[in-house]
Amino acid sequence: MPNRMKISIIGTGYVGTVTGACFAELGHHVVFVDISPQRVAGILKGDPGFYEPGIGELLKKNSQRISATEDTKSAVLATDCTFIAVNTPSCADGSLDTTYIEKASEQIGSALRETPGWHTVIVKSTVLPGTIEKILVPALERTSGKRAYVDFGLCTNPEFLKEGCAIEDFLHTDRVIFGVHEEKSQRILEDLYASFSCPKIVTSLKTAEMIKYTSNAFLSTKISFSNEIGNICKALEIDSRSVFEGVGLDSRIGPHFFRSGIGFGGSCFPKDINALIALAKEEQVNPVLLNAVVSVNESQPERMIALLKRHMHDLNHKKIGVLGLSFKPDTDDIRESRAIPIIHSLLSEGSCVMAYDPVAIEHFKTIFPSISYAASAEEVLSSDAVLIVTEWDEFKHLDYREKLVIDGRKIKKAQEEAKIYEGVCW
Ligand code: UDX
Ligand code: UDX
Repeated sequence: MPNRMKISIIGTGYVGTVTGACFAELGHHVVFVDISPQRVAGILKGDPGFYEPGIGELLKKNSQRISATEDTKSAVLATDCTFIAVNTPSCADGSLDTTYIEKASEQIGSALRETPGWHTVIVKSTVLPGTIEKILVPALERTSGKRAYVDFGLCTNPEFLKEGCAIEDFLHTDRVIFGVHEEKSQRILEDLYASFSCPKIVTSLKTAEMIKYTSNAFLSTKISFSNEIGNICKALEIDSRSVFEGVGLDSRIGPHFFRSGIGFGGSCFPKDINALIALAKEEQVNPVLLNAVVSVNESQPERMIALLKRHMHDLNHKKIGVLGLSFKPDTDDIRESRAIPIIHSLLSEGSCVMAYDPVAIEHFKTIFPSISYAASAEEVLSSDAVLIVTEWDEFKHLDYREKLVIDGRKIKKAQEEAKIYEGVCW
């Protein structure tokens, strides 16, 4: 067993909580910090306040190595290294909003003023190339009165966690990335990940920051590419999913992220691609391909409405059922969910929307308080037409006979038995 370290994690959202719980599982001691007292209390109870399979169990199992507080200073002073995992949202123009990460750095900096020995700050949050140098270094140095890389460590270790299987993704990752500027921080990262047998890439801070954006931009591009091919396939009466089965077996291409349909949502892809586009423009580079990826993604939900109108010319006063509200299955996260533009369109057509999701209804009510919400998926099936927006497992076992179904995610049973069935890309 490598050194057991003491780690603080600033920000107990999806990324911070999963990261901390997994490090505790690996034997390290973890102090979680959040500005929200509810989040802090939730961590201590083993209930982090969001749905992610296995996270509650992991927090409870390792509770003897876990503590939580609202006080950054005490956490930093009690630990060897601090992960920053606060959210990095988008500004209105798509660029990266660094307010929270700057604030978190200032709080860590104030604590660093009092640390007697070496302490390493590790950036987990997704930040554009150059952000650590331009924003974090000045914030940390100003508030600590110390020099980055000389008096304290600063490095980055981006995350590649998919919500819904984030624990598995953390513990069995394809690779870890260490963005470093000095050896002491590199050694801390090597100790933290000593039990991982995957490739470990050691690179500069800026390159590591760019690896994260490039990964997400490529995956988003693969999805929009699959959707554009899917739209052509649909016109030709070809099932694009079968096409990608044949294409994905080429080892140069690979089978993943070819699930054509209504496009990508979530807390990362839309935000990260827009931030990269904004950065490219700032640098006078025209991001032609990235713009197209966004534009295909924005038009996919509309194709679902167009297909519905093929069978129901006037949607006014029609009862339309929506199955799935989270941006993907196994999460209650609705950030940038494709259900949002789809429901906006239905409402602007005058439809009465009845929606169901196994776990995301409460979150969705904050955006759409006045549509009706069903207590079960079966209840939604009583609508005049049903739109499948998220591929939750339970939707794979419903009785779709006699139904008009427009499917954005390819549920086989619906395709086989619905009276009228349209797939978006098949
Ligand atoms: C993460 C990130 O780290 C982000 O950069 C990445 O692109 C997506 O994933 P996420 O875990 O989804 O963000 O964030 P969220 O669920 O919004 O949680 C952030 C947490 O940080 C919240 O609990 C919030 O209360 C906390 N926070 C925010 C602080 O503790 N301090 C702050 O100053 C700001
Ligand atoms: C993503 C990245 O995969 C992860 O590495 C990164 O760190 C955070 O962002 P996440 O957003 O949790 O993870 O989910 P992911 O499984 O990648 O799905 C994102 C969106 O793309 C979902 O809306 C999903 O439905 C959609 N998607 C995914 C497709 O439409 N087709 C696909 O083939 C794959």
